[in-house]
Parts: sequence; structure tokens; C-alpha cells
Amino acid sequence: MARIVIVGGGGYVGMTYAAAFADLGHDVVGVDVDATKIDALRARIAPIHEPGIEDLLRRGLDSGHLRFETDYASVSDAEFVFICVGTPSDEYGRAEMKYITAAAREIALHAQGHTIVVNKSTMPVGSVELIAEILNEHASHAVSFDVVSNPEFLREGCALHDVFHPDRIVLGTHDALAAAHVGALYEPLGSPIVVTDPRSAEMIKYASNAFLATKISFINEVATICEGLGADICAVARGMGLDERIGPRFLQAGVGFGGSCFPKDVRALAAMADDAGGDASLLRAVLDINVSMQVRAVDKLATRLGGVQGKTIAVLGLAFKPNTDDLRESPALAVIEQLLASGATVRATDPVAVPRATGLVPDAHLVDDPYAAVTGADAMILMTDWAEYRDLDLDHLANAMRGRLVVDGRNVLDPTSVRDAGLLYEGIGRPATWPAVRIVVEREQSEVITLAAD
Ligand code: UGA
Repeated sequence: MARIVIVGGGGYVGMTYAAAFADLGHDVVGVDVDATKIDALRARIAPIHEPGIEDLLRRGLDSGHLRFETDYASVSDAEFVFICVGTPSDEYGRAEMKYITAAAREIALHAQGHTIVVNKSTMPVGSVELIAEILNEHASHAVSFDVVSNPEFLREGCALHDVFHPDRIVLGTHDALAAAHVGALYEPLGSPIVVTDPRSAEMIKYASNAFLATKISFINEVATICEGLGADICAVARGMGLDERIGPRFLQAGVGFGGSCFPKDVRALAAMADDAGGDASLLRAVLDINVSMQVRAVDKLATRLGGVQGKTIAVLGLAFKPNTDDLRESPALAVIEQLLASGATVRATDPVAVPRATGLVPDAHLVDDPYAAVTGADAMILMTDWAEYRDLDLDHLANAMRGRLVVDGRNVLDPTSVRDAGLLYEGIGRPATWPAVRIVVEREQSEVITLAAD
């Protein structure tokens, strides 16, 4: 079993890998400079909302395979040191490397003997060379390093599933032995392992996120075209997604992507293209379309209500996606800010993110319950596709609201049921008039698919 240190062990990626490697039987120390997070983790409390993580942490801590520290002393004994600190956007859209370089210096100062440093954070192409330079510059002569790029592909809200069932493991190194050592850590997971050069590994991470973001902006652009032509994007995405070359995932039209990864990584890849003299026009269009989806959502409210000034709008969902309380670059916050700037009163709710939102949107009224949010509202907009919002009691909703308008920013409500409750349904890329298409998929032995009219 390996001795592993995870730097940035209090963050979402670091904490998840620390707990997962401990569960696989390794001895893991999560290191984080944030003492508040370390205190919480030692008390078996996850600093972020992630389903199942606290059970895994508890198991690791109870078994003695996992501990958390605020200093780097444990690096001296480690075979592997994973760097999992953040790379937020700087003012030019590039990945901010100051936390990474600070971590590399600390690792260099504390390492003893041969250490494999694994770049797990999303770092610009060329970072393996950069980290190796910093390590060699700051280390004592007796120490040697291999640096391996090993990007992460965890989705927030499903991180536990993704950490134990990866589609692939990517390793970027010129050293076959280092690749074999890091690859062995993932052996029990049984997933394909791609070993390539460091720069290609780093690019795989950016290109993967940029491609998924492109898929979302593509379907969102088609959704806006559907609105003009009277087609239903849900049927269109369904029909497209059955083509195995396209696939059904990441074709959910709506108010756009947010979070700590897609916006930041698409910006960073565009900045890398600029720096390398390349063309990033598609990537910039992806970002522009994404922002426009939030503007369009507010326009839908304003058009139907004859302006939002003086109106009360209920916003259901604050987190950038379900099953997390992460609000970074959340489309909901962008929409709330636009509504407030236009003179609306906003009552917003979320199953878990209300405590984190307090202070971020001080002029919005935050409530715990969706029915409290809609009471007396002129319109409701659904911004995050939490499972509980799919099952709203629509009669209760209709009785509580003052107005009739429901904007379904994630296309997850059933338009017919919303209309049957006496409400006015407006989705993203869905026909304004109903009855519309009901999608019936019949999968028989011959794989017959029927899209039948209602
Ligand atoms: C994303 C990637 O999916 C992970 O593989 C990657 O590891 C991670 O970024 C990262 O770089 O760390 P995440 O940001 O947690 O994961 O969330 P996603 O599930 O990818 O969703 C991102 C955003 O796209 C959300 O706002 C979601 O609502 C939106 N989305 C997703 C859509 O609007 N439509 C879709 O069809 C799918």
C-alpha cells in the first residue's frame, strides 16, 4: 500500500481523492492550509455538500488510513504527492497558478528521497515542466522527483461515483516507470489508462471540458432556433442523441452551464490559444452563447410580464447544478442579479445552497421552501434541476402564486401538467403553444423508436 499526500486535501477534488485512496487501503494525509476545513474534516464534516462523502471520510478516518494536517511535514515520508489546489481564472481568463507554485515550493522543501508529484489540478499545458523546474530549484540535492500529469474528471454531485468508476485514467509523463507506479494506484478500478506525454495529458483535460461545454452551447443555440421555428428542443435532443456518434448526454438545453470548471477552463483554453497564436473563435462563441441564455431567460420573464420592475419573481435553485451547494458562476446568481438590477423583487430558494448564498445576493430574499418562494410571486423561474423541483405540487404552486407564469430554465417540468394547473408554461427552446409533442419512446427487440404527437 502506498503513502500518499494530497495537497489541497480540504478542497472538493482533494478531499474526494484522499477519501477514495484511503478506502482503497492506502495511507493518505490530506494537507490544506485552511485550518477551518481541516478542523471540519477531522470532525468528519465535509466543508462542501457532496452526497456520500462524509461516510467515506468517516470510514477512512476511523480505519486510521486517512488523516488531515495543516502543514507539509508528511511530505517527507510520501511516495506520491498529489497537487489538488485550485486554478481559478485570473483577470485575463488564464489559469491562476499562484496556489500551484506555492504548493510546489512547499513540496520541494519537505520532500526526502524520490517522490512522484502528481498534477491532479487542472493546469495549463506546459505545467509538468513548470512544476519540475520549481521542485528542482527549491529541493535539496539528495531529493529527486518525477512529475506526472493526471487530470481529474469528477463531476460535482456525483464525485463518489466518478472517483470509483472513471471512464479513463490519463497519465502524462515521459517516464514509463513513473506512469506504471501512478497507474498501479488506479489498478483496482479497472478502467482504461491512457499514457501519453505531459502536454497531451494536460490538453485532454481542457479539451474534454471545452467539448462538453460546446455540446451544451450547441444545443442551447439550436434551442433558440427552435423557439423561432416552433420545434421542441427536447424532442430534437432526444432524436439527435440516439445517434451513437452524438450520444444523449450534455444535450439538455437550458439556462447554461456554470460551476468552477467549464467557464474557467474554456476561458483558460481560449487564453492558451491566444498565447500560442491559435484561434479560439469557437470557444469564445461557446462562452457568449452561455451568457446569452441567462439574458434570454430574464427577457422571457420581462416580455411575458410587461417588464419585471416592481414584480416579484420566485427563483427555484441557486446551485449551478443539483446535488451540490456550489454557487461558483451559477446561472441562477447571474439571473438574480439581472432581475434585481431591473427593479424586481426576488425570492430565491435552494434545497442546500441557501446558507452559502447569504451575502452573495444580499438584496434577494432567501427562503428554505419552494412554496414560500412562490407565495405571492408574479412569476417563477426554475434555475437548477433538483429532483424535488421536478415533483412540485403544481396545484399548490398555482394557488400560492399571484401571477401565472412559470419559466422552466432547465426544461424539466411537464408542460401539460403545468398548464393543467392553470399556469402558463415557458421553457427553453420549446413551442410557446400547447398541446405540443409528447415524446413516447418504445424500445422493442427491433429498437423501434416512436415520437408520437399528443
Ligand atoms: C465538469 C465535468 O463534467 C467533469 O468531468 C470535470 O471533472 C469537472 O467539470 C472539472 O473540471 O472538475 P461539473 O462542473 O461538476 O463537472 O458539472 P457538470 O455535470 O459537467 O455540469 C456543468 C454545468 O453544465 C452545470 O451548470 C449543468 O447544469 C450544465 N449542463 C450540463 C447543462 O446545462 N446541460 C447539460 O446537458 C449538462
